[in-house]
Amino acid sequence: MSTSKLTLSDPDSGRSVDLPVVRGTLGDPALDVAKINRDLGYFTFDPGFVSTCSTRSAITYIDGDKGVLLYRGYPIEQLAEQSNFLEIAYLLINGELPNPTQYHDFTEQVTHHTMIHESLKTFMNGFHYNAHPMAMMCGMVGSLAAFYHDSLDPDNPHHRMVTAIRLIAKMPTIAAACYKHMVGQPAVYPKNSLGYCSRFLDMMFSVPAEDYEVDPVAAKALDLLFILHADHEQNASTSTVRLVGSSGANPIACIAAGVAALWGPAHGGANEAVLEMLTEIGTKDQVGKAVARAKDKNDNFRLMGFGHRVYKNFDPRAKIISKMTHEVLNKLGIHDPLLEVAMALEEVALKDDYFVERKLYPNVDFYSGIIYKALNIPVEMFTVMFALGRTAGWIAHWLEQNAEGNVKIGRPRQIYTGSAHRDYVAMESR
Ligand code: CMC
Repeated sequence: MSTSKLTLSDPDSGRSVDLPVVRGTLGDPALDVAKINRDLGYFTFDPGFVSTCSTRSAITYIDGDKGVLLYRGYPIEQLAEQSNFLEIAYLLINGELPNPTQYHDFTEQVTHHTMIHESLKTFMNGFHYNAHPMAMMCGMVGSLAAFYHDSLDPDNPHHRMVTAIRLIAKMPTIAAACYKHMVGQPAVYPKNSLGYCSRFLDMMFSVPAEDYEVDPVAAKALDLLFILHADHEQNASTSTVRLVGSSGANPIACIAAGVAALWGPAHGGANEAVLEMLTEIGTKDQVGKAVARAKDKNDNFRLMGFGHRVYKNFDPRAKIISKMTHEVLNKLGIHDPLLEVAMALEEVALKDDYFVERKLYPNVDFYSGIIYKALNIPVEMFTVMFALGRTAGWIAHWLEQNAEGNVKIGRPRQIYTGSAHRDYVAMESR
């Protein structure tokens, strides 16, 4: 029989504490350490949260050793093959796949919230043309929090759902407007006759002066990438959304915080960094040098798109994207030499002892940039693409957190390493 508690004893004080074992439906159990400080006078210390569960959640499950990813129990491979992004957003938010009426209603609601307030244009115009689009996204999503006072109460289930729909609907409009600002073209209003991804591509690439038709291959590829990015349990940006949410903050501001956390190269910013790295490597014969640099502990260069905190096996999303990269490039008739560099890099790294011993495999970001590039999406926009997909997950987690009620504010402790008590010294005596 499996234990229901573990006892931790402190030989110095002779005191002990029973730590209840917390189990979920799948995955390793956890120890509930909440009473350690009260009963033993110790904190737990776990920088980077490598052994810490911050919450219970029923949304996404990852088995990092086996390379398994489930959204609400459904394997990512099946969802990628058979579903679409809006259905996935519904699934993540509501817990079940929609029936035809529910799917129709959800799509209708998202479609009717695609426009953004005209005043947001004023905010946008404050950015210089060369602002990074993720900087614009942080600012623009943050400024969206200044609107919609009718639906911002985290304790109100109706408000929560309206906010969720608004965010899923408006993020692509904001993202495309950021791109248009960058390239000095007028922002394009959302065309609600188009599907979710086609509408986004239309807002990105159509101009008032010319006709534009969305390539269905591009729309389908984008939809698949959004599915793969949609959620990944308690990653840095989702944990950020939950932490900000735990203070009862404006829900849209919580998502803006998620956008900021995603930007870093260790997280969503890796897709931009991968393409820069592949471009810098340039040709297959330079791959060996890059791998040598990544192994050199005196060089802070890392193979971007490689390694993962949770996956110690192939990232299942990377497997899907790698296959899809070849298909999409073939269908679009594109030959990208960077794909050859990426494949050579993967091959060398997967056979190298350094990567084998540390169980470093390609992650979701390794091949995604090559597809985005094939869709004409500029490299600075790659992390924005990730944010569009991940919005579904951020919102699902924020909803789950608030639906549970009695949200406890997230407030970690620290090991203080500063000066001990000392007395103030008057300036003339220093
Ligand atoms: N290249 C070279 N060495 C690496 C790499 C890499 N990409 N990733 C990890 N290592 C080494 C690291 O130096 C360490 O070696 P040692 O044990 O000798 O000190 C060991 O592997 C463990 O690495 P870690 O930094 O302790 O692992 P972590 O779980 O804290 O970091 C990671 C995970 C994803 C931040 C890291 O693997 C990394 O920086 N990868 C490159 C950036 C990247 O692709 N990020 C996207 C992650 S997936 C999408 C997402 O989350 O948004």
